[in-house]
Amino acid sequence: MTDKAKYDSNPQGTDLDQPQRPGRVDLIGCGPGDPELLTLRALKRLAMADVVVADRLVPDAIVELADAKARRIDVGKTPFAPSISQDEINQILVREALKGNHVARLKGGDPGIFGRLAEEVSALRAAGVSVDIVPGVTAAHACAAEIGLPVTLRHKVRQFSVLTGATAGGTVDLDWQALSREGHAFAIYMGVAAADTLAKRMLESGAAPTLPVVVVENGCRLEQRSVQTTLAQLSEAITALAITGPAIIFVGLDWQQANLSRPTTVESFPATQSASIEVPARAAENADTVVTACPSPNPIKRTNVS
Ligand SMILES: C[S@@+](CC[C@H](N)C(=O)[O-])C[C@H]1O[C@@H](n2cnc3c(N)ncnc32)[C@H](O)[C@@H]1O
Repeated sequence: MTDKAKYDSNPQGTDLDQPQRPGRVDLIGCGPGDPELLTLRALKRLAMADVVVADRLVPDAIVELADAKARRIDVGKTPFAPSISQDEINQILVREALKGNHVARLKGGDPGIFGRLAEEVSALRAAGVSVDIVPGVTAAHACAAEIGLPVTLRHKVRQFSVLTGATAGGTVDLDWQALSREGHAFAIYMGVAAADTLAKRMLESGAAPTLPVVVVENGCRLEQRSVQTTLAQLSEAITALAITGPAIIFVGLDWQQANLSRPTTVESFPATQSASIEVPARAAENADTVVTACPSPNPIKRTNVS
């Protein structure tokens, strides 16, 4: 059955195993911030919602694509600051769905990648609420595309993983030996604060100090910045450029091994002259994007809970 047929035959959601309750929740991946990176399915589900529950990294330009009558609840968590708890978010989703609402739960990137997806799905299922997952473009893939950086390379980079620099206990505990192996590249999410520890552990485990590293901050947004450096200079580069995130740190990838040139929009740390591709400035591109994607943003009601 095609997706459209599946959806048309079950407009209450595709979670057919669940008992039928009046409301439902769509857990929607919204990509890294540019409304043009929303999928058609995400856009359709957003347009059908009575209530929109949005994360911090989902910009207004996306939330405003919901119906004008939709009620908005912001549940954004701020890193290293007091924020709404995951339990409270789960309760809001359950409460709104059990009132009979169609809830669009908007998450940055893809909901299944460092998105607390499991907790929300299990809370909703435990309450007998129909839940559906709409995939989104994850930050690593979107950021890599923005700077023309392939994340795998035939014969050279055969493994690409995603990992987090933030853990519940605060200690980054990863398999440093495996990460340092040749032919393995990875993208670190939430890694700015842990970058120093991460680089030190990898160097201790035998990684080359010259291992290429690329950092993309605010990828696919007006404020996008990116820098190429090395593992040994990662921490220094982050401090010198005052990178605070959200950012993706790519390790083991660069343009040279792909026989490409670094785009001029990507800085080098320390500075070099080698960039040679002209890439249009993100701000100019995005100005068009926002106008195209949101010709007349709908004013929607907001409820702040945090
Ligand atoms: C809680 S994780 C959520 C990841 C999300 N589910 C995804 O698939 O992209 C948040 C982290 O994603 C990364 N991130 C999200 N949006 C980003 C963006 N526009 N540019 C760079 N990194 C981003 C940052 O590492 C940020 O700290």
